[in-house]
Amino acid sequence: MIALGSDHAGFPLKEEIKKHLDEAGVQYLDVGCYSEERFDYAKSAQKACDLVVKGECDKVILCCGTGVGISMAANKVKGIRAACCSDYFSAKYTRAHNDANCLCMGARVIGAGLACELVDVFLNTEFEGGRHQTRIDQIADIENGKTVY
Ligand code: RB5
Repeated sequence: MIALGSDHAGFPLKEEIKKHLDEAGVQYLDVGCYSEERFDYAKSAQKACDLVVKGECDKVILCCGTGVGISMAANKVKGIRAACCSDYFSAKYTRAHNDANCLCMGARVIGAGLACELVDVFLNTEFEGGRHQTRIDQIADIENGKTVY
């Protein structure tokens, strides 16, 4: 199950992504927002990310205007590794090397066609583990207030 969230600027892109996931038969839970009326991205970021933290969803896809604000908010949720991506390579390797569990995109940055490609590669790329796990552990240590240097 994929958690989806957006602010008002990201809402139209989220709708396109939902159509794409429907066609692919991927199940999702849309935590909002549900229109282009002003809606602050921190709220949907936290709500969608909490579903992953609670184990109710596997990954999160978030959209705002740039993808940046909503990724900043998502990365404040403990256990979330959010990546703001607008290219294929980053969306692939943030899974393979960073074990990202949250993909953020900007509706004012990329079109729906590319966004859906990024969604596909993000959802279908496995984490490689190995030396990358050490780095993920260090990120978690920083999150827990430990000094890693
Ligand atoms: C909303 O106008 C816009 O600031 C927001 O969607 C996002 O781009 C922030 O990072």
